[in-house]
Amino acid sequence: MNIYIYSLIALFMKDNMRCVVYEKYGGPEVLEIKSVPIPTISDKEVLVKVYSVCVTTGDCRLRSLDMPGGMKFLARLGLGYNKPRNPVPGMMFSGVVESVGSAVTKFKVGDEVFGSAMKASCEFLKINEDKDIVLKPSNLSFNEAAAVPFGGVSSLIFLRDFTKLKSGQKILINGASGELGLFAVQLAKYYNCEVTAVCSGKSFDLVKSLGADFVIDYTKENFMENGKTYDVIFDTIGKITFKNSLNSLVHKGKFVETVASLLDYLTVLRTSIFGGKKFVAGVAIGKVADLEFLKTLIEEEKIKPIVAKVFSFEDIARAHAFAEGGTKVGSCIVEVVKHE
Ligand SMILES: NC(=O)c1ccc[n+]([C@@H]2O[C@H](COP(=O)([O-])OP(=O)(O)OC[C@H]3O[C@@H](n4cnc5c(N)ncnc54)[C@H](OP(=O)(O)O)[C@@H]3O)[C@@H](O)[C@H]2O)c1
Repeated sequence: MNIYIYSLIALFMKDNMRCVVYEKYGGPEVLEIKSVPIPTISDKEVLVKVYSVCVTTGDCRLRSLDMPGGMKFLARLGLGYNKPRNPVPGMMFSGVVESVGSAVTKFKVGDEVFGSAMKASCEFLKINEDKDIVLKPSNLSFNEAAAVPFGGVSSLIFLRDFTKLKSGQKILINGASGELGLFAVQLAKYYNCEVTAVCSGKSFDLVKSLGADFVIDYTKENFMENGKTYDVIFDTIGKITFKNSLNSLVHKGKFVETVASLLDYLTVLRTSIFGGKKFVAGVAIGKVADLEFLKTLIEEEKIKPIVAKVFSFEDIARAHAFAEGGTKVGSCIVEVVKHE
């Protein structure tokens, strides 16, 4: 091929970017890196050069359609029955504003930002300036900032909005060392609660350093058999049941579950109508105000994200395998461009 043809290809490719794509549901092996056009932005949109993206258990569920009982069919209806309608995984990002639309007022080129947007596992993403995008906390790296929106916003919504956690309450957090759990421990302390963290011994020092008052090693002790009771039991990982936890809840205590089946939602409805112990579940959908709130808490050093492991962009399939492995302590981050 002569030099002119190379130049022509280069000219054509200059408006392209690398993007992670999956064209069928399945394991991490369905992920590929492809060259696709860089998105074009409208007047109110911002183009972000993505530095880091968080690979979450949520991304893995969407990719594999691994959903709690009865939810798989609903997920297929929403996401695409036979193949994903949106083939690009990832939502939680950090990066730098590359360009802005003519009517954008909140951001300028060069701003360091983080947030949540569809199609984040690409070198560039576009997002409306009024959606979930906020200036990056000044005391966080790009990798740490990308670790905030999933665990931070989900735990905030579960504890503040769904549970209506109150100062002085006793809360047990099951899966306290996971992505949601580590934020939940810190947020519950922020809300002045007494926190019992359930995790394995390897994470004791970490959860204590984040404020946990008591720790229980689930590999050695079943908290449901120790006779203690709690106002709230927050199962961040879907490993315990409302039924089995009843004796560990005070009268009108709340069992809060992140991984709920269709049947569980019937229990949520039933317990919301009748008195007694409540089953609380839902889908945590954040707002930009939630990101701003977390940014403030982070800058005031009241909470912080924990990065479990960092992968390169080319290692995206390994990152997904790690993220869905159930043993990560904090967040799984992919560096889209090498920067730290
Ligand atoms: N409903 C919603 O809106 C919503 C929103 C966000 C997330 N979610 C769901 O929430 C779930 C949790 O996500 P995540 O990313 O926080 O989980 P994760 O990070 O994968 O959790 C892993 C942690 O769980 C610990 N763990 C494993 N088995 C345990 C057990 N039996 N008891 C106590 N701890 C145990 C592991 O510690 P060891 O390795 O030491 O065992 C590890 O540190 C996901 O299923 C996700 O789909 C739902």
